[in-house]
Amino acid sequence: MRLSNIPLLRPWAALSLATLIGLSSGADTDQWKTLKPQANAIRELLSLDGTWNFALPQSREIEEDQGWTSVIPPKLQIPVPASYNDIFTDPAIRNNVGWAYYQRHAIVPQTWSEGRYYVRFDSVTHEAKVYVNDEEVGGHVGGYTPFEVDLTDLVSPGEQFRLTVAVNNILTWQTIPPGEVVTNEAGKLRQDYNHDFYNYAGIARSVSLYSVPDVHVSDVTVTTENDDEGNEGTVNYSVETSGSNDTQARVTLIDEDGNEVAEASELEGSLNVSPVNLWQPGAAYLYTLRVELLSDDTVVDTYDLPVGVRSVRVEGNQFLINGKPFYFTGFGKHEDSPVRGKGYDPAYMIHDFELMKWMGANSFRTSHYPYAEEVMEYADRHGIVVIDEVAAVGLNLGISAGLRGDEPPKTFTEDKVNNETQKTHAQALRELIHRDKNHASVVSWCVTNEPASAEDGAREYFQPLVELTRELDPTRPVTFTNVMGATVDKCLISDLFDFLSLNRYYGWYVQTGDLESAEVAMEEELLQWVDEYDKPIIMSEYGADTLAGLHAVDEVLWSEEYQTNLLRMSHKVFDSIDSIVGEHVWNFADFQTPHTGVNRVDGNKKGVFTRERRPKAAAHELKRRWLDEGFPKLGNGTSGA
Ligand SMILES: *[C@@H]1O[C@H](CO)[C@@H](O)[C@H](O)[C@H]1NC(C)=O
Ligand SMILES: *[C@@H]1O[C@H](CO)[C@@H](O)[C@H](O)[C@H]1NC(C)=O
Ligand SMILES: *[C@@H]1O[C@H](CO)[C@@H](O)[C@H](O)[C@H]1NC(C)=O
Ligand SMILES: *[C@@H]1O[C@H](CO)[C@@H](O)[C@H](O)[C@H]1NC(C)=O
Repeated sequence: MRLSNIPLLRPWAALSLATLIGLSSGADTDQWKTLKPQANAIRELLSLDGTWNFALPQSREIEEDQGWTSVIPPKLQIPVPASYNDIFTDPAIRNNVGWAYYQRHAIVPQTWSEGRYYVRFDSVTHEAKVYVNDEEVGGHVGGYTPFEVDLTDLVSPGEQFRLTVAVNNILTWQTIPPGEVVTNEAGKLRQDYNHDFYNYAGIARSVSLYSVPDVHVSDVTVTTENDDEGNEGTVNYSVETSGSNDTQARVTLIDEDGNEVAEASELEGSLNVSPVNLWQPGAAYLYTLRVELLSDDTVVDTYDLPVGVRSVRVEGNQFLINGKPFYFTGFGKHEDSPVRGKGYDPAYMIHDFELMKWMGANSFRTSHYPYAEEVMEYADRHGIVVIDEVAAVGLNLGISAGLRGDEPPKTFTEDKVNNETQKTHAQALRELIHRDKNHASVVSWCVTNEPASAEDGAREYFQPLVELTRELDPTRPVTFTNVMGATVDKCLISDLFDFLSLNRYYGWYVQTGDLESAEVAMEEELLQWVDEYDKPIIMSEYGADTLAGLHAVDEVLWSEEYQTNLLRMSHKVFDSIDSIVGEHVWNFADFQTPHTGVNRVDGNKKGVFTRERRPKAAAHELKRRWLDEGFPKLGNGTSGA
């Protein structure tokens, strides 16, 4: 069926501002409620990754431009997945502010004539509009979570169609993360933002076509619990179906050897496993929850979900996994690599995990946005613990102003971070939790990074979001990372969270070059937090910019020795404080930043590895510490080694 001759007038088509700022679509549809597709005996999955045609629009307003109504010539071609910024040589593309077109042709296989079929985007940064031939068929706002479009009534199997995606990279005060488009002195648009990583854009993760039968599994949710000894485990599950109200089901839990260990016939229930193989940090065990939908004893749909049985809770000043105190070793990371920007790359992904394993890192935080689903699956499979963060970074106007010595503007005001921003933020949390709720590796939700938590309005802004997070998932502790300066007497929101995550740069941004003073100041501050809150504390960021290859005998800033010494100094303090239950060095690897600050030299160099993943001296220092049998805070089987 072709609907392209029907002129579709959208109410917002003339509202160029709304279109520009990306408020036009996304949360008003449920295209974000997408279960990760899989191929099996019943479902089919076809990749649309590869080379697409690429163009910038002729005019800023794509409604005027209508670039999807014709064939975009292959003059510029682009790899999917990848960010587009570093692929070409034209600065107009690298520095583009606004829309860009991706286009290719596709065919739904003739054999898919039964059932329904969808196109699924694992992520498009930051906003997408999707067109089939001349018609707009869907879209999404939010650059790091998936969405899909039901193509069943739009294209016929066997018929080639033109698939165009318009991609918008604009950040406003109402997007997550926020930003502001300004016109520079030369009359060009410039994207400003308050977060310290480059605003990469494009189709950064995979695109696929997939099929499901008319009656199919549309969502699965599991929660698990177990006794601390691993004698008994429970897998609570709930299956949503689409297409019929009287679906019969068979749900089986299968162990790693292929044995069925529990079975049920309802769409919702509890499966008991005794004895249970627990999912443990560094020793993952994954069952398969197989959901089958039946019609007259015939299987009409099936979906396999990997399930790790483990429990997570905070008790006093400890973070417990399966009832045992867990000490986090690892990093804040980025999805960032040369040329591909934030594009998903399986080689970099697995190499990063191997490097973490090599040095005894047992965990990481998905700073500062949800990572690719493949990353989460890998963490599940390999027993790496994840703190899962939404893209709410830069809700803080004070940081950059503070660096310039200006009076900081107010963050939570009607013309900056406001109630609309909060709505976008809430939707980003819904989409993150919907996508990642079943991952055993995910032990906590991080609702924001370094917000202006000491400013008026912070509590009003964050309290409903924390409540929403708990409502969406009552099983995982909730945190946020507190920015340096929002000290225990000033922070207005720390009491809302289950544990504290502190980002501190003693010896770098303060007490710069003076590690003795840094140690005194850091210990003093941390003890204030311990005094005020009986909660576990994770040092969620600490570190120093370091130019690989710069060496010095003395404490020279940017040298590999300085980075190593700063880490050593920090660790001495951490080891002396019981409530500290983890250390995540900032950052795993060097990463790209905006080219608008003089304090960055081709990116942030706080990596323990270079951007190419070569170790600096600090990597060896961390390896020695984290794999040392005498490491004071490990020793309960929780090391990632
Ligand atoms: C699992 O289900 C049981 C029975 O409904 C409930 O008591 C328990 O709290 C649930 N556990 C989790 C982790 O959701
Ligand atoms: C299924 O249930 C919904 C809600 O109760 C109802 O609106 C719908 O008509 C039902 N569909 C069928 C096929 O019975
Ligand atoms: C948000 O809405 C509330 C209630 O309508 C209002 O009092 C408050 O000023 C708004 N906050 C912002 C930052 O706009
Ligand atoms: C390890 O476990 C033992 C016994 O449960 C406990 O007493 C001890 O404090 C734990 N060690 C650490 C470092 O958490």
